[in-house]
Amino acid sequence: MIERTQKERELIADAERIFPTSTRCLTFQEDLNFCVSKAKGSHIWDVSGNEYIDYLLGSGPHVLGHAHPAVLEALRTIPENGTSFLIINENAVALGKKIIEHVPCADMVSLHSSGSEATFFALRLARVYRKRDKILKFEGAYHGMHDYAMMSNQWTMGSPPLPQAVPNTHGIPRVLNDEVLIAPFNDLERTVEIISKHQDELAGVIIEPVQRTFEPKPGFLQGVREVTAKLDIPLIFDEVVTGFRLGLGGAQELYGVTPDLCALGKAISGGLPLGVLCGREDIMAIANPKRRLQMLPYSMQTGTFSSNPICTGVACAIISEFEKPGVYERLEEVGTRVSTGLRDAIAHAGIEACVTGVPSVFEIWFAKEEPFDHPSSKASDFYKNIRFSDLLLQQGVLKAAEKFFVSAAHTDEDIERTIAAFHLALEQLAKELP
Ligand SMILES: Cc1ncc(COP(=O)(O)O)c(C=O)c1O
Repeated sequence: MIERTQKERELIADAERIFPTSTRCLTFQEDLNFCVSKAKGSHIWDVSGNEYIDYLLGSGPHVLGHAHPAVLEALRTIPENGTSFLIINENAVALGKKIIEHVPCADMVSLHSSGSEATFFALRLARVYRKRDKILKFEGAYHGMHDYAMMSNQWTMGSPPLPQAVPNTHGIPRVLNDEVLIAPFNDLERTVEIISKHQDELAGVIIEPVQRTFEPKPGFLQGVREVTAKLDIPLIFDEVVTGFRLGLGGAQELYGVTPDLCALGKAISGGLPLGVLCGREDIMAIANPKRRLQMLPYSMQTGTFSSNPICTGVACAIISEFEKPGVYERLEEVGTRVSTGLRDAIAHAGIEACVTGVPSVFEIWFAKEEPFDHPSSKASDFYKNIRFSDLLLQQGVLKAAEKFFVSAAHTDEDIERTIAAFHLALEQLAKELP
């Protein structure tokens, strides 16, 4: 039973008054919204002292768990030597080397402050390389909050005829509507058709190799790679979620498909603001400012906090942990046990639902048929998903109504408690069904 102190109630009321944004709290039922006081490993606490097993993990960054000792050590020592220089520094160079060592497509690297920035600059680079403007993305894919990305993403309602894009927020200049083309994820034939038809206008193709929690069908990524390589259209993998989560080489290593550019972030960030863009030397080199002096086509992509020594130092410390034997094995084991437990609980409750994804990031869908793309996911009852998240939260299991992120820090006891909570929540949900 979750109880809330007066202090926490006041903090939540203050947050609602001060912050208009959705980050002030998640969309749990009113009395379940909470204000965080601390987090450690796989657990998070609210200001009233209630403890939750965390499958939100700050929206994915904490693959090693919250407040990992390697992250804390880096945060303790690095700032003593300064917090931000704009100029290249030892930690930034070390991170660049590690990215090149592990990520198959990475010949060169540029450092930014968020995943959104990394995808934004990837698109700009592609435009300069191709001397064309249009971007192709996939229906239901999320690439961040910038205007080109906020088109036909997971919040899109309705289905205009593809490749027409739908803006996901007001405030996007109308001229951009025609600058983004949309293809159906996991439908290679139609995707190849759209790319081929628009080849003379396209600057680049951006894709989440695992879109949200939909795995690519066998041959899909390979097919997209083939057609983009043939037409010399840069293929950008948005690995902000999958990078260093699915393994040191991310999805591109797992599925054996090497893109031209790749955006990274969350898993190596330790929760600090970090985005990384890496890729093919001839494309990445377009960002070299010397080109501007030589009057060559140039993509400017920097910022006050790019190559920040704390963010890059923390990322190096995290990658060193990932390099240790057993980390990815544990992550896979936790994810497999929790997602299998969820599937078993669904079967036990006799409720119509299914699970998609990979072991370390997956989702429940309240639908008869397993979705494999955005349109097929619309058959799922999202309100049941929200209710399921509320029922889990009441039992001390935190999960946003979008996906489960697991960490290598989740313990066997966490797993058992989580699976018990799945059973109770799904049985309750089954009772509530009309
Ligand atoms: C696949 C993907 N790309 C890009 C982003 C944007 O990253 P950030 O929130 O760091 O800007 C996200 C964030 O959730 C994401 O899931």
